[in-house]
Amino acid sequence: MLRVEKLSTFYGNIQALRDITIRARRGSITTIIGANGAGKSTLLRTIAGLNKARHGLVIYDDHDITNLKPNKIVRDGISLVPQGRQVFSDMTVMENLQLGAYVRRFSDRGDNAQELEMVYEMFPVLSERKKQTAGTLSGGEQQMLAVGRALMSRPRLLLLDEPSMGLAPKVIQSIFKTLNALHEQGLTILLVEQDAKIALETADYGYVMKTGKVALEGQAGELLENDEVKRIYLG
Ligand SMILES: Nc1ncnc2c1ncn2[C@@H]1O[C@H](COP(=O)(O)OP(=O)(O)OP(=O)(O)O)[C@@H](O)[C@H]1O
Ligand SMILES: [Mg+2]
Repeated sequence: MLRVEKLSTFYGNIQALRDITIRARRGSITTIIGANGAGKSTLLRTIAGLNKARHGLVIYDDHDITNLKPNKIVRDGISLVPQGRQVFSDMTVMENLQLGAYVRRFSDRGDNAQELEMVYEMFPVLSERKKQTAGTLSGGEQQMLAVGRALMSRPRLLLLDEPSMGLAPKVIQSIFKTLNALHEQGLTILLVEQDAKIALETADYGYVMKTGKVALEGQAGELLENDEVKRIYLG
């Protein structure tokens, strides 16, 4: 479904990604783990069109989407849940969700009642708080809102950047339960995580990134047993 081939991304003269090659198979959960600054967010942002690739390709469903505009990539069916959630604090929960559908609405002008219904069913707490401003939500609720907002465009591929960040273990469990449910409904997921344990326990396949490169890859179950992964990432 998604193929990234020898992707390189720079910030000015600084190279953040070096010849990254990864795959996310249809219907799978693929995870990318790695230390701070390894380039995980840059990779997701480059796939989503928010950073420009200097070399290499992003191929989605056999067509080249490298460096297309972000809104075009959303319309193609790829949606990003950014690191740190980035919900609009002063807007209500419902307004945040409606923004997620905004990009898609240009091409198909229906209202988004169906999508809202789907998100509220998945996250009942968002329905209870739909008129509340997003800034007053707890961290876990904001993460649910960020995922819900991404789902409003009806993606087929969901890119998630550190959904566990700053959340209590119980809340993390609940977020990952939702990700598993979405996966069971057929959504393909590319998951960036610092919490290597929960990421590898959830995913089918994993990549370990180190200073802008893929250092290691394999079946998630194998990576969980890998000595280097155990030592460095599983503590
Ligand atoms: N806007 C930017 N301008 C310049 N350098 C940047 C910018 N964003 C990221 N970088 C650099 O690119 C490298 C990769 O950063 P990136 O955010 O992709 O890492 P990461 O793996 O997501 O880290 P973290 O786990 O801390 O989120 C880092 O060295 C970072 O300092
Ligand atoms: Mg990051």
